[in-house]
Amino acid sequence: MPKLPFICANWKMYKTVGEAVQYVAAFRGLVRDLDGVEIVLAPAFTALHAAAEAARGSNIGIAAQDLHWEREGAYTGEVSGAMAREAGASYAIIGHSERRTLFADTDATVNRKIAAAFAAGLGPIACIGETLDQRERQETFDVLDRQIKLGFDGLTGDQIGRMVIAYEPVWAIGTGQNATPAQAAAAHGHIRRRLRQWFGEEAAGRCRIIYGGSVKPDNIRDLASQPDVDGALVGGASLDVRSFLEIVKAAAGGGAAI
Ligand code: 13P
Repeated sequence: MPKLPFICANWKMYKTVGEAVQYVAAFRGLVRDLDGVEIVLAPAFTALHAAAEAARGSNIGIAAQDLHWEREGAYTGEVSGAMAREAGASYAIIGHSERRTLFADTDATVNRKIAAAFAAGLGPIACIGETLDQRERQETFDVLDRQIKLGFDGLTGDQIGRMVIAYEPVWAIGTGQNATPAQAAAAHGHIRRRLRQWFGEEAAGRCRIIYGGSVKPDNIRDLASQPDVDGALVGGASLDVRSFLEIVKAAAGGGAAI
């Protein structure tokens, strides 16, 4: 089934409210006529609402970078899915490797956060991927299996079909060393096979599996043209309007597997 390529900018801990609004104001006119791609920006929580307002009426969606699994409560410093939704997000990135490594996210918390995202009406963008050590020990597929099994436990086939899964090999994030198109294709093919096995043909067919890790204007075409690569999650190269625009245009031009 044809899938609309999904390109998401993960701004991480960059951009103030003013910078985010300025970016969206410049970007929205440049992508106005692009309809072969779904475009999403993930600002920091502080800029979520302002970015969503600046994007209102455009073809740009907004994602939170994380959420807490409870709707509200005594959780100092946390933001719930309902809060992110109300601020203007329609997606939430969950289980990014930086959160797993630096902020103690686990497959179990990822599982709760995905359920909370659905409950809040947010589309989860769930991140999985192996470290360099794990890859060198030939454990990549085992790691992915564990992250899928535990992280997506209890989800229905319908939910899997509505999810975006980001395959982000940890060794490729922020290093300038992207996975080769063949490495990405192998990992994405494996993820798709497991989804088919564990959640059914329709869920696997509908779920968009996107690649993240040193995506740039000069490698997006090769990566996105691989079978089972349905788009990209872009860090560093999304911070600049021009370079992100090039990436989005390349994906809209039929680079992604459809
Ligand atoms: P870079 O594109 O900077 O490698 O970051 C990838 C990433 O972590 C996106 O979530």
